[in-house]
Amino acid sequence: MEKAIHRDFAAWLVKSKALCVRFDEPMSRHTTLGVGGPAEAFVVADTKKALAQLVQKAGKFGCPWQVLGKGSNVLVGDEGLSGLVIKLGKGFGRIRALPGNAVFAGASVRSTTLCRYAVKNNLDGFQVLAGIPGTVGGALWGNAGTSAGHMGQLVQQVLVMDSLGAEHKIESGQICWGYRSMALPQGPAQKPFIIIGAWLGFCPAKKGQSLEKEYSLILETRKKNQPAGSGLAGCFFKNPPGSLSAGALIDRAGLKGFGVGDAVVSSVHANFFVNRGNAKAADFIALMEKVAQKVRQHSGISLEPEVRVLL
Ligand code: EPU
Repeated sequence: MEKAIHRDFAAWLVKSKALCVRFDEPMSRHTTLGVGGPAEAFVVADTKKALAQLVQKAGKFGCPWQVLGKGSNVLVGDEGLSGLVIKLGKGFGRIRALPGNAVFAGASVRSTTLCRYAVKNNLDGFQVLAGIPGTVGGALWGNAGTSAGHMGQLVQQVLVMDSLGAEHKIESGQICWGYRSMALPQGPAQKPFIIIGAWLGFCPAKKGQSLEKEYSLILETRKKNQPAGSGLAGCFFKNPPGSLSAGALIDRAGLKGFGVGDAVVSSVHANFFVNRGNAKAADFIALMEKVAQKVRQHSGISLEPEVRVLL
């Protein structure tokens, strides 16, 4: 891994009381797949002020950075990552109730926490995120979704910080919500930006509607259809346009149980790849390539990764 952190910047990071910094931190500890080499520096920022100072300093020293949520939809390469990997800490992990069935949710709130909060407070609409691992920030970034819809449908406004440390509140209608993607409108907050929270609008549950029951049913179905436990990263490929899902295409190509090293196609749901214990990132990358190639040969369809590959 090429080093990108200047000596003076490293010294500033060490001295900063507002940040929690670990150098050469293995990303395998911060991704649900359990693979990935070291980040040159892994930094947790707990407040907006600390985060703004961090990106400003990084900019001054020309140091690249990227943001990690719960690490549930990423594949970090074995070589590790140059520069900073930024994680939003506890200060970004609150849900605030607002009038009119709305909430403000910080980016590091877990998706499951948000769903439970909604169920408890009779807020319908959470189903678009039910059963999806990760954080609200990650769900916004990748416009996560289920068969009930996608994250963007809940959003009123998104709060982002740009690479100069300035905050921007962006209306949902100005954001281009795509299938597993979102793009901000042209303006000051271009990539790289950090999603720090969002205002989300729910509907009151209808008379007689039990959100508790709906949630349990979704989780039960998910338990039946998808593998659970550690060493997973959700669906590896996006569903292609058309009638067959990526999982069905991989299954039809006869690839359940197919593997490279300890990276194996799940026998429960073919769009999930499992770390059987000692897989390397390279095994998952090779598995993705082989699976995509075999599906192409079998059905003529090209699969695109849903997992964010960071090399
Ligand atoms: N199928 C197979 N074989 C398999 C897997 C699926 O034939 O091995 C078939 C199923 O029988 C079903 C169809 O494929 O007819 C669709 O499967 P499923 O209902 O499991 O949905 P999916 O499209 O594979 C999507 C999301 C999931 C989300 C589920 C449930 C994508 C890429 N995946 O999966 O999201 O949990 O719907 O709502 O959009 C994720 O994005 O990481 C993720 C887990």
